[in-house]
Amino acid sequence: MKFFVDSADVGEIKALAGTGLMDGVTTNPSLIAKSGRRMSEVIAEICSLTDGPVSAEVTATDLDTMLREGRYLRDIAPNVAVKVPLTEAGLRACKALSDEGTPVNVTLCFSAPQALIAAKAGAAFISPFMGRLDDIGQDGLDLIRDVVTIYSHYKFRTEVLAASVRHPVHVLHCAKLGAHVATMPPSVIKALFRHPLTDRGLEAFLADWAKTGQSIL
Ligand code: G3P
Repeated sequence: MKFFVDSADVGEIKALAGTGLMDGVTTNPSLIAKSGRRMSEVIAEICSLTDGPVSAEVTATDLDTMLREGRYLRDIAPNVAVKVPLTEAGLRACKALSDEGTPVNVTLCFSAPQALIAAKAGAAFISPFMGRLDDIGQDGLDLIRDVVTIYSHYKFRTEVLAASVRHPVHVLHCAKLGAHVATMPPSVIKALFRHPLTDRGLEAFLADWAKTGQSIL
């Protein structure tokens, strides 16, 4: 399972890239706005921190402008994946850009039929939003399960990129279902490392070790 960082904060991405455990980055217009920086600069900087795909989202809603924005964004760096919303224009843009060899991440997916049509449009990634479905009382995991099942029936090459991941249990369930990727805010990635019993166990081991007076080196 691949781990992507869902952030446009270069400092946080740099720190996580340093672990060697991150496989890519996703951004969206809200995250770029939060960075307070110019999108092209932030995307270029993020692309220099990872060899993996970096999703950069178009903000136009009409096909022609989406295509122009998508082509502009993909020229920023070789590892840009153009992100488009799951609308009819977005899927037309997905088909055109994919046919040109550009990887496309189709975002704002909230139903399995939407994911099916995105795969037919040649998406490299589909981003079903789990947390936002949970927020309105629907089970986001049902969507991940349906999309993984449908894609495996037909051997679509589109990767299921679980998005709107809010906590480590989301990650666990996505992994059990075979989602290809989870994109997570830095806080969720950091939480994956932690368990209170690990802290307590380490403390006890080190206290016992100190009593021996030994040192390994
Ligand atoms: O990048 C898309 C997605 O991960 C957004 O998550 O928490 O804003 O629903 P969230």
